[in-house]
Amino acid sequence: MKRTTKMRLVRQAKERVFARVRGIRLAQHAYARVRRAAYERRVRRFVSERTGRGDRLPVGIVYEATMRCNLHCEFCYVGDLLNIEGEWRQELTLDSLRRAFPDGAGLQVSLTGGEVFMRKDIMDVLELFREKGYSCGYLTTNGTIIDEARADALAALARRGFLKHVSVSIDGPPELHDRARGLKGTFERTAAGLRRLQEAARRSGAPLRVSINTTVAHESLDELDRMVDVAEELGVDAIGLNHLMYSTPEEVAETVRMIGARDASVIATFVTPDPGITPDQVRQKVSALEAKCRTKGLRFGSFGSKSATWRRNRSKRSGTVTSTSSCAGGCWSSGCSRCAGAAARWS
Ligand SMILES: C[S@@+](CC[C@H](N)C(=O)[O-])C[C@H]1O[C@@H](n2cnc3c(N)ncnc32)[C@H](O)[C@@H]1O
Ligand code: SF4
Repeated sequence: MKRTTKMRLVRQAKERVFARVRGIRLAQHAYARVRRAAYERRVRRFVSERTGRGDRLPVGIVYEATMRCNLHCEFCYVGDLLNIEGEWRQELTLDSLRRAFPDGAGLQVSLTGGEVFMRKDIMDVLELFREKGYSCGYLTTNGTIIDEARADALAALARRGFLKHVSVSIDGPPELHDRARGLKGTFERTAAGLRRLQEAARRSGAPLRVSINTTVAHESLDELDRMVDVAEELGVDAIGLNHLMYSTPEEVAETVRMIGARDASVIATFVTPDPGITPDQVRQKVSALEAKCRTKGLRFGSFGSKSATWRRNRSKRSGTVTSTSSCAGGCWSSGCSRCAGAAARWS
């Protein structure tokens, strides 16, 4: 047996074992406690040693390329910071980006926003990261402003090995997506953008993965399993989920107190006293979706923890603050620092 085949089989076997173990609640709690302890050790060391040296360099970066957006989704965690005039409208210039990110570090950068394609020089931004020797793991978009030229340019970046994956946000079948996204006709525009991308990749033979991702909010919960039909209709083979992140007004007030801000205007979060869904409902509907994906051979949920990762990174961006907050996921994702914290508290 070839060495690469052997390695692949070992990796797959490991993944299967980890997936099994991750399904055991006790193991999830134990793992969460281990991660939390390791994280706290690292922080204590950083604070006590005062060398200014962090432990491990990040291997991935999430860059929110713009705070502009052409939609107004009710649940959006960017919240009031979207489209604000003044300081928040300023995007990091290409020159600043060039200086801010190290060259040739082989890092993976993922892009999100706001809506990345609202940024006029977005293709130059992508090219800049490519020149630095980065790859783009994910680009997340609402898909509504991907015309043919843009789709071709993205496919070209994929062909050159830079762009790996475009994740298009779709929250349900047409009427549901339009409701969630706050604008009638959005589904059609999103689907058209996604199809242009698929077509451009196919035409040019670019190895570009195009998937869809759904935010599990009260708008989408009841009909979550219909995402399988949407995926089939659009010809995509993978569905990712974002678990709803939100802050209650009390959590926002607590954050304002903690950071000593004048008001909540610097805090990026979706504020609601009640998101209208509970972790138990979410678990049930997500399991049903997962089962349906399995029967149809669709990849599911391998991107489940990304919203949590985004959130962690977002809080490091100068000036913005992520509120102490709640999550309606109940997913116990191994990538989520908040669930790790919660698990440690609850157990
Ligand atoms: C902020 S958007 C930016 C990219 C692009 N505008 C889009 O909609 O895909 C990134 C992803 O976060 C999701 N999202 C927005 N608000 C969220 C929230 N409160 N909790 C979890 N995910 C959220 C969106 O549905 C989208 O998939
Ligand atoms: S979720 Fe995306 S499309 Fe919707 S308002 Fe937020 S940034 Fe815009």
